[in-house]
Amino acid sequence: MNRYEPSQSRYGAMEYNRCGRSGLKLSVISLGLWHNFGGVDNFEHSRTLIRRAFDLGITHFDLANNYGPPPGSAEENFGKILKRDFASHRDELIISTKAGYLMWPGPYGEWGSRKYLIASLDQSLMRMGLEYVDLFYSHRPDPDTPLEETMGALDQIVRSGKALYVGISNYSAEQTRQAVHILKSLGTPCLIHQPKYNMFDRWIEDGLLHVLWEEGVGCIAFSPLAQGLLTDRYLKGIPKGSRASKPHGFLRPQHITEEKLAKVRQLNDLAKRREQSLAQMALAWILRHPTMTSVVIGASKVSQIDDAVGLLKNPGFAQEELQAIDTILAG
Ligand SMILES: NC(=O)c1ccc[n+]([C@@H]2O[C@H](COP(=O)([O-])OP(=O)(O)OC[C@H]3O[C@@H](n4cnc5c(N)ncnc54)[C@H](OP(=O)(O)O)[C@@H]3O)[C@@H](O)[C@H]2O)c1
Repeated sequence: MNRYEPSQSRYGAMEYNRCGRSGLKLSVISLGLWHNFGGVDNFEHSRTLIRRAFDLGITHFDLANNYGPPPGSAEENFGKILKRDFASHRDELIISTKAGYLMWPGPYGEWGSRKYLIASLDQSLMRMGLEYVDLFYSHRPDPDTPLEETMGALDQIVRSGKALYVGISNYSAEQTRQAVHILKSLGTPCLIHQPKYNMFDRWIEDGLLHVLWEEGVGCIAFSPLAQGLLTDRYLKGIPKGSRASKPHGFLRPQHITEEKLAKVRQLNDLAKRREQSLAQMALAWILRHPTMTSVVIGASKVSQIDDAVGLLKNPGFAQEELQAIDTILAG
């Protein structure tokens, strides 16, 4: 592949939101490496996707220890891409990783103990060839580990210089409030929460968003397109190469119900009237919340990244449009 020269105009194409009450800004669109960057994927294509994202002003790349498949391979591939293409751009990037889900066998390979979180981050740094990540997450709450231990590990990780900021993912509103307070008492603020949020899954509207706003914590929505369902991807069946067609895809054909598709068709018509794609409307709808810092999308094609960034041309909603969306979703 050619030597990579990032686009000179990359910072003109994107917007950046302040993350809660921190000093850090994130691109409103971030790229996640859960799918399409693993050992099973074409490395040069993954590399093209990262290059394109950065050319469009996307500065935030989201990983986790277990992304692949096989687990760990997305971090390995990203490390190679960093070394080959981004060696002189490290300070322009916000790289996150996480630990919480099963990564290695035995009692120390998942959940939220200090033992697991610190060992996992050390492994992630090795795989990516980094000295530190910008952001490290507790990937899920652990019902059997005291929250003080998990948050204490995050505090220690920041103090040891292995992460600049820490965050939490998949914590409920109440767990979030407690976690934020413990971190605050330790002197390490919680930068951000990463919950699932999209038109089909609105749980964060019932408390979590309010807690984040009150506490000054940022929010980055994962699976903002419901893994591709909230686009035109599945309107004419399950295309070859789509996530739902892949054996390791987390979106299964049975999730694509006729009931969901009926809503997607109506949403697609509404998006057309707004002169944007359904993906753009679905992302803009998430970013309408003032607490929302960014959406972390997945992409298997360059055109999908281009499409997402195009939302910036029409990010606002009339009150009637928001009501129409609510009506479709409730139908
Ligand atoms: N914290 C957590 O627990 C957690 C859990 C899950 C994900 N995440 C993070 O969130 C990131 C995004 O998750 P996700 O991949 O589920 O996000 P998503 O944006 O909801 O779905 C991405 C998929 O949608 C399709 N797509 C994207 N843009 C499109 C467009 N413009 N038109 C048509 N189809 C389009 C593509 O599917 P095809 O592959 O079919 O083309 C793409 O792979 C992950 O990479 C990860 O970083 C975090």
